[in-house]
Amino acid sequence: MLQHFFNPSSVAVVGASQNPHKIGYEILENIIQYKYRGAVYPINPKADEILGHKAYPDLISVPGNIDLAVIVVPSAQVMEVIEQCGEKEVDSVVIITAGFKEIGPEGSHLEEALAVRAKALGIRVVGPNCLGIIDTTSSLNASFAEGMPLPGHIGFFSQSGAMCVAILDWALGQNVGFSRFVSLGNKMDISEVEIMLSMEHDVNTRVILGYSESIDDGANFMVAARRVCQTKPIIIIKSGTTSAGAKAASSHTGALAGSDHAYSAAFKQSGVIRAKSMQDLFGYAMAFATQPLPKGPSVAIITNSGGPGILAADACDRSSLHLTPIRKETADRLREFLPPAASFYNPVDIIGDATEERYEKTLEVILQDDMLHSVLILLSPTAAVDSEAVAYSIVKLAKNSEKPIITVFMGEKGVRRARRILQDHSIPSYEYPEDAISALDAMISYRRWREKPPRQYKHFKGDTRKVRQIFSSIIAQHRHDLIESEAREVLRAYQFRLPENRIAKTTKEAVRAASEIGYPVVMKIASPDVLHKSDMGGVRVGIANGAQVEEAFFDMTSGIRLRQPDARILGVMVQEMIPQGKEVILGITRDMQFGPMIMFGLGGIYVEVLKDVSFRIAPLSVESADAMIREIRSFPLLRGVRGEAPADIEGIRDSLLRLSQIAIDFPEIIEADINPLLVCPEGQGAVAVDARFTIHE
Ligand code: COA
Repeated sequence: MLQHFFNPSSVAVVGASQNPHKIGYEILENIIQYKYRGAVYPINPKADEILGHKAYPDLISVPGNIDLAVIVVPSAQVMEVIEQCGEKEVDSVVIITAGFKEIGPEGSHLEEALAVRAKALGIRVVGPNCLGIIDTTSSLNASFAEGMPLPGHIGFFSQSGAMCVAILDWALGQNVGFSRFVSLGNKMDISEVEIMLSMEHDVNTRVILGYSESIDDGANFMVAARRVCQTKPIIIIKSGTTSAGAKAASSHTGALAGSDHAYSAAFKQSGVIRAKSMQDLFGYAMAFATQPLPKGPSVAIITNSGGPGILAADACDRSSLHLTPIRKETADRLREFLPPAASFYNPVDIIGDATEERYEKTLEVILQDDMLHSVLILLSPTAAVDSEAVAYSIVKLAKNSEKPIITVFMGEKGVRRARRILQDHSIPSYEYPEDAISALDAMISYRRWREKPPRQYKHFKGDTRKVRQIFSSIIAQHRHDLIESEAREVLRAYQFRLPENRIAKTTKEAVRAASEIGYPVVMKIASPDVLHKSDMGGVRVGIANGAQVEEAFFDMTSGIRLRQPDARILGVMVQEMIPQGKEVILGITRDMQFGPMIMFGLGGIYVEVLKDVSFRIAPLSVESADAMIREIRSFPLLRGVRGEAPADIEGIRDSLLRLSQIAIDFPEIIEADINPLLVCPEGQGAVAVDARFTIHE
């Protein structure tokens, strides 16, 4: 897959120049100086020879086959070169040239035309507007980046050329090896999806790293990522998330959504590890590329000072790692050589006068304890310890260990060389305990994701004909928002439990409806134009008798007429009053890249003030629905506090899955809220009290 990009037998540089200040020179120089082993063809109509290689006036004049062409000519000439590629049967092209989509409509047109032509000619393209590609296996550096990473196991793709340069510089500084480097540029043809899939099959790539600004085809990305993550971890840093879409939204779900939630949800559902900062990205990359995955969550911490040990323990507490107490057999073995003042719990504090020998013996014993799955070694550079010797001991013991070992040598000057030794021998070395714990946490979370059984999906057969009828009639009336009775019909079509209710056009009808339903009742204004009914005085609860019904009918209809004179009033809805329960909110919103997204939160202030909500991309698996319920901070309230009965979690899960089915069946729904969904005590289900839908043709 994409074979000619990464293992080409021959490369042509179109726009190679003799002028050392031009990018066309730099790329050719990189290809040559880093000892690419295939044939190299500089293409330039004015030169006979560049950097010791015979130059050709155009691609057609090259005698042999060309696997890969790197194009570095001005944008106006790129189309002509693509035509030559077609004629010469070059199927893989990297376009370095800028001046396309990123400069506005004119560039966009040029890029579109180029994409159409390249596709017609069967040419695959990386770029345009990119830095190039690097493949350390074939020693190919077809980029104008400075330097060449060491061969290694990290595959990297990036939408930003600058980020490529930064990562490369970090790799060179830290001696971190890479397998492949791909600057995606404008992603005219090849996107992160194909790059990830190509890295899945690359034996030299163990971990895939990415910098992404936007993912165009969310659904495809999720399918590919989910597949690749089964065998290789993918770590992505995502920038440029905006809430512009969210600001324009009218529903609760829409207002809370924002594309960042969509990315987070998509990453979680497909196993992708999201790095929140560059520090995380580097830190995770080091751990994943050099260490085996921990077999379980128990981490042992070895330290020669209390403070850093406590910081690490606190970080553990906030993570999914366990600081398991050291079992007696192991502690007894440690007692044989550690001073009595040492701590034999976890962290194992080998105290301030610890020597390199004490570190080595302790690590040896800890590594032999099967109950401990990973080891974090903390070192403060005291006068007693030779940090370089400790580094060598760790390197020696790590060779025969199947557990991940990571290190934090605190300080700078006194530990610089020791850190270098560790890095050079593929032992991750962090500056702070929190970063080390975060990396281990990412590893165990990834392992858990990979070991989960296949996700289960439930199909709910709704009355789609009925819902389609409702939507068609709404569109025919040039409306977008469903009135409550219509929203209820949609939910009913998917077997949601709804409170009994009737629409009443007159006071008399309202009184009759209330006595049929049974007191107490709730009354709500029925109008397609009043969206936030409570705010407008359009909701009354606990109405106990006929006189109160009459009064409420009059107050509501006249009140709305006063506040919103142009609102169409269809009457008043009289509704069964649902018994006690927990109010939660469920919603649908549609993300530009990932499609329908489902939201869950506890109602009231938890949603509005604390924004304590969770999101997943539809269709939801049963496991995802469960995870999103448990993910909110206020989940303990649903489980019941202070002797309260637990809420019916299964009822929520069922409602989430049904709503996900509605979102999938009807792409015209752009936003929806079920607010509140009243969750009864365990075993008694949940009732959709109120709902709103916004649809688009
Ligand atoms: N076939 C072969 N060679 C051609 C050619 C063609 N059709 N058209 C032009 N050339 C040659 C030129 O003669 C020149 O060689 P010379 O130095 O011997 O005269 C060479 O290609 C480059 O053309 P030139 O017109 O000098 O352009 P340039 O080097 O100033 O700029 C780019 C070309 C591609 C570098 C520039 O247009 C560009 O896009 N720069 C930005 C790149 C970038 O930032 N990318 C994103 C990074 S993240």
